Amino acid sequence: MKQTIVFEVDSENPEIEKILAAAAIIKAGGLVAFPTETVYGLGADAFNAEAVLAMFEAKKRPLDNPPIVHLEYLSDIYKLAADVSPKAESLMKQFWPGPLTLVFKRHPSVPGVTTAGLDTIALRMPRHRVALALIKESGSPIAAPSANLAGRPSPTSAKHVFDDLNGRIDAILDGGPTCIGVESTVLDASVDPPVLLRPGGTSLEALQTAIGEVKLHPFIMADLELPKEKARSPGMRYKHYAPKAQIILVEGVVPAVMAKIKELISESWMQSKRVGVLATDETAWAYEADVVKSLGSLRNVDAMAPNLFRLLREFDAENVDLIFAEAVPAEGLGLAIMNRLRKASGYTIIKVP
Ligand code: TXA
Ligand code: MG
Repeated sequence: MKQTIVFEVDSENPEIEKILAAAAIIKAGGLVAFPTETVYGLGADAFNAEAVLAMFEAKKRPLDNPPIVHLEYLSDIYKLAADVSPKAESLMKQFWPGPLTLVFKRHPSVPGVTTAGLDTIALRMPRHRVALALIKESGSPIAAPSANLAGRPSPTSAKHVFDDLNGRIDAILDGGPTCIGVESTVLDASVDPPVLLRPGGTSLEALQTAIGEVKLHPFIMADLELPKEKARSPGMRYKHYAPKAQIILVEGVVPAVMAKIKELISESWMQSKRVGVLATDETAWAYEADVVKSLGSLRNVDAMAPNLFRLLREFDAENVDLIFAEAVPAEGLGLAIMNRLRKASGYTIIKVP
């Protein structure tokens, strides 16, 4: 076991001595978790193969699922990507720094472990002062997947990181809760038209406004786990964001969803199951269950995103056997929320008229 040091940092004006201490760890090949605007990342020097390998081990991540590489200087992109199209350049101008990850052909100098042996690389510039300061002072782009144990919900606070990775990593920069709450959007910009591989903090609508046609990978709203060979993004193959209880996602118009969930609660109680419901501000009052939590108001789906992963972790702590989750509209960040809920349910989805 390592001793994991926690540095509390001011997210607006990060204290330079704390950033320098964390950067020294990265430079020495160590692992530092840090906040971004989406979720916390687990950082390692992207050009240090041993450090990246240690990052995979710390989070028990399969070696064939590459991390996102985070940069602070736009010009660093040419050290990491081999081919940057004008469309990608225009996306970078409009959305960076921000929650958009772009996939490019990789530069040959990037260690193979950082790209999991793929000939492409996923890059983003985060919109968070702590993240940017850490990358800057580390003097190198930072490879950082979400800072959770593989298969657990992504961390939206330093406490979530600590709960999963205490004793397995060198340090955590605690900059408070993250603001967007779902991971970045992953867009394959190495093809034309670009393909959306993971919906996230940048909405599909915003991308379409910026560049016109965007293809949706069939995994994004898939009802079933698709065969492995169809996965364009390695992360699509793994069950993700799963709490310990089974999630059952119920989709349809609101009154029908509520009626169905009430019926499911009664059935589960007859089997002596402990039942949770993931509802909304508009519907939570109507349920009688062991634990009822609201994701937020249907009037502002984007504002639900920062609550999602925290609530999934809270359900774990409540030891429920089943969680019935209401579907939310797949607009704006709702597309990312629905994608995460579908994956978390292992595609256990009930559709009601
Ligand atoms: O918001 C985020 O993106 C956070 C913060 C820390 O930046 N990071 C994050 O990383 O969510 P991670 O590793 O948990 O998810 C990265 C996703 C995975 O689904 C992975 O398969 C995909 O990006 N990915 C990485 N490299 C890829 C590549 N070359 N081609 C396609 N997909 C790739
Ligand atoms: Mg992740």
